[in-house]
Amino acid sequence: RSASSFHRPCVDTARSNEENADINWDDLGFGLVPTDYMYVMRCSRDDKFSSGVLNRYGNIELSPSAGVLNYGQGLFEGLKAYRKQDGGGFLLFRPEENACRMQSGAERMCMPSPSVEQFIHAVKETVLANKRWVPPQGKGSLYIRPLLIGIGPVLGLAPAPDYMFLIYAAPVGTYFKEGLAPINLVIDDKIHRATPGGTGDVKTITNYAPVLKAQTQAKTKGFTDVIYLDSINKKYLEEASSCNLFIVKGDVISTPATIGTILPGVTRKSIIEIAIDSSYRVEERLVSLEDLFDADEVFCTGTAVVVAPVGSITYQDQRYEYKTGTETVTQKLYNILTAIQMGLGEDRKNWTV
Ligand code: COI
Repeated sequence: RSASSFHRPCVDTARSNEENADINWDDLGFGLVPTDYMYVMRCSRDDKFSSGVLNRYGNIELSPSAGVLNYGQGLFEGLKAYRKQDGGGFLLFRPEENACRMQSGAERMCMPSPSVEQFIHAVKETVLANKRWVPPQGKGSLYIRPLLIGIGPVLGLAPAPDYMFLIYAAPVGTYFKEGLAPINLVIDDKIHRATPGGTGDVKTITNYAPVLKAQTQAKTKGFTDVIYLDSINKKYLEEASSCNLFIVKGDVISTPATIGTILPGVTRKSIIEIAIDSSYRVEERLVSLEDLFDADEVFCTGTAVVVAPVGSITYQDQRYEYKTGTETVTQKLYNILTAIQMGLGEDRKNWTV
């Protein structure tokens, strides 16, 4: 059965001794393959989250006046679990980073948030309850999607009175349809992803629907994704719809600085550290269109995307091409990062859990 045509079984097979779910692991993309359980925890606005439960994965009931439905009061996270090679369990990559990012996002969005310990405990519970869905090593990972949403009713604009922290998971392969092959991006100079003082640096659900139009237009023209520019000068790179951006020139690696409009990606942060440890100079700064056109290599980073090489970028009908392949800085950084994530390389910084 292919992943894309998968339907949940009617019988409860989650508690069987089955080591792996019965799907074609070679056919995984980044579509939703529903798994067995989701983790749910609730609390009111003036309270703290206390304990959660694992429920069968399925629909949740919401009031039509829930804060998340009316005013977009919601955050999400993304992290991955990898199956270890020797059958010795599963690895999470820097889950405390996601927990901390959810906490700072919750503060910005006027929501209570789970503690770091609660967040990591819930992630572990979700992975273990769905362990038959963690792909065999080399075939992908279990993508874990924590949500924090205002579920209490509001009509006038205000923070919701009640909140839900929920985690579901799905086995995934590569994010882009190109797989590990280079992607082709287009710069949109009319639609902006974020603006100073807004929430571009927060993983709120409200940052994503506004780029669907640009993304859809780009895909119609055959591009993989869109690069957005800063909304003031319209000449500095921000990020792509679903990932951060890096450029390589000689042995200098540059990425837009996180000055309020850029999402502080966990993969972005890890690649910066890996690059510094590998003796590259890393600059977090304003990266202009000229810098981009002059670069040797360009790559994207994200939890879903991992490290994706960029083959070309089109701006105002002009196409710029970049070096790709096995002899690139991009490939070197990808190899180091994924070896750590999969438990194949030395994890000197204790990033994996
Ligand atoms: C991730 O990379 O985990 C994200 O949250 C991006 C999302 C658009 C898939």
